[in-house]
Amino acid sequence: MAKESFLYKGTHFSVNVHSEASLNYAENEFVAFDDDIFNVTYPKSGTNWMIEILSLIKSKGDPSLNNSVPIFDRAPWFEIVDVKEKVESLSRPRIISSHLPHHIFAKSFFKSKAKIIYTMRNPKDVLVSNFHFAKVLSIFEEPKGFQEHMENFVSGNALYGSWFDHINGWLQMKDDSRFFYITYEELLLDLRGCVKRICKFLGQELDDEAIDSVVKNSSFKVMKENKMSNWTTVPSEIFDHAKGSFLRKGVSGDWKNQFTVAQNEYFDAVYQEKIKDLNVKLFWE
Ligand code: PPS
Repeated sequence: MAKESFLYKGTHFSVNVHSEASLNYAENEFVAFDDDIFNVTYPKSGTNWMIEILSLIKSKGDPSLNNSVPIFDRAPWFEIVDVKEKVESLSRPRIISSHLPHHIFAKSFFKSKAKIIYTMRNPKDVLVSNFHFAKVLSIFEEPKGFQEHMENFVSGNALYGSWFDHINGWLQMKDDSRFFYITYEELLLDLRGCVKRICKFLGQELDDEAIDSVVKNSSFKVMKENKMSNWTTVPSEIFDHAKGSFLRKGVSGDWKNQFTVAQNEYFDAVYQEKIKDLNVKLFWE
């Protein structure tokens, strides 16, 4: 959980990153363009990976911008403080990132033809990734232990609220033609196939060579070495680089190294209960 947080419409935000005004801007003042592409996720679900993919699709596979412009500037999170100017000066089509839940999302989006790519990840791996992230990012309280971290996650006492609410909220849009959902696990399994599906959804035609470049330049290995994408430019007071890397493991199933048998049983029971009305078969199930 964030060290200093506040509630906005029932969801937890961090005073170091958000404000009432920044959230109000995203929800009520921001004007969506019909060609906007929103990269929406619950934190630690593959947001930065998707930024890399979308930036490369936008440049038709040319990695120059990915190698010269920080990832935060290519697709800023539009709900954070002091980002309005950055978002409004992006070249079109704008790629805009967000962790906002459905009920706080930009009202203007719903009246537009803009598109959303919603990336999800097995919540057990989200939880583990987030546990390690909380140890290195200064806005978080150092987790006391994994059990407590899990309880907070399950009860929605977490930055951007409950994973379950996020998924239940956004997947209400699953049949909307402006909404495309994909999982981190599918990206891992068949990145090329996923890039093609994303291009189709966006109406972007890329030749094979361009697709090859998207796949190569958004790989974990290349991103980890790319200073513009690996968060090494974040000052050490904010991100303790001595303690860990943003591109940490980049795998599926790391939860098995962290969960006890009892924690896994508990999590499965909560999961079944909270996701039961969704009516969507999620990739990891
Ligand atoms: S954040 O802080 O919410 O914006 O984080 P987010 O980008 O959503 O998620 C971070 C995790 O995504 C992994 N990642 C990748 N995995 C595979 N391939 C690529 N290219 C890639 N890029 C980022 C990153 O390593 C974090 O997962 P963990 O499990 O911690 O390694």
